[in-house]
Amino acid sequence: MPAHPGEHGPAADSSNSSRILQMDPSHLEEVLAIEAVSSLEPWSHSMFLQEMTQASSRCFIIRGAGEPAVAVEGFICFRAVADESELLNLAVHPEHRRKGVGKTLMQFYIDFCRRKNIRKLYLEVNNSNQAALSLYRSFSYKAAGTRPKFYQHRFDALQMMKEI
Ligand SMILES: CC(C)(COP(=O)(O)OP(=O)(O)OC[C@H]1O[C@@H](n2cnc3c(N)ncnc32)[C@H](O)[C@@H]1OP(=O)(O)O)[C@@H](O)C(=O)NCCC(=O)NCCS
Repeated sequence: MPAHPGEHGPAADSSNSSRILQMDPSHLEEVLAIEAVSSLEPWSHSMFLQEMTQASSRCFIIRGAGEPAVAVEGFICFRAVADESELLNLAVHPEHRRKGVGKTLMQFYIDFCRRKNIRKLYLEVNNSNQAALSLYRSFSYKAAGTRPKFYQHRFDALQMMKEI
């Protein structure tokens, strides 16, 4: 039973909406494999489970196009409280990067927030992560602050914000 039934509404492009599903425990093996090769500080199984069941959090996966069920290509997790949201995690399988999957997930996220009247979107990103920085800038996120040596006591975090 999904934690937030009936809520995984459509992405902007209907050809993509059917590929995006609320994350459930059956996805975690694939999600954890993507996470392991995507993050300096990977989330554990229990961290994903916690976010999947938390009332204020949402996690979605995106599958490859095709039938029957095709592999998980990426995922996104975020929190939403009142009119604010924080992007918590986003990753695309290395084999599927640079094909628009991250962009599709971000567009889905922004559309979700619009439908919920969420107006302020926040995130933190490793300031040396050029791929993510470029993705977020392409969605008009702006720098809003820094946390020096936030990741592994080495890399600065850039705080970014977008108003919709
Ligand atoms: C960041 C990430 C999610 C992007 O996913 P993706 O599916 O490859 O991204 P897309 O193909 O949708 O690209 C969308 C835009 O992002 C930017 N981008 C993506 N990869 C890039 C790269 N390697 N270098 C520079 N810009 C990049 C570009 O602006 C791109 O638009 P363009 O293709 O028109 O130039 C992916 O690289 C990833 O999973 N990285 C590891 C996890 C991570 O860093 N997550 C973010 C944590 S804050």
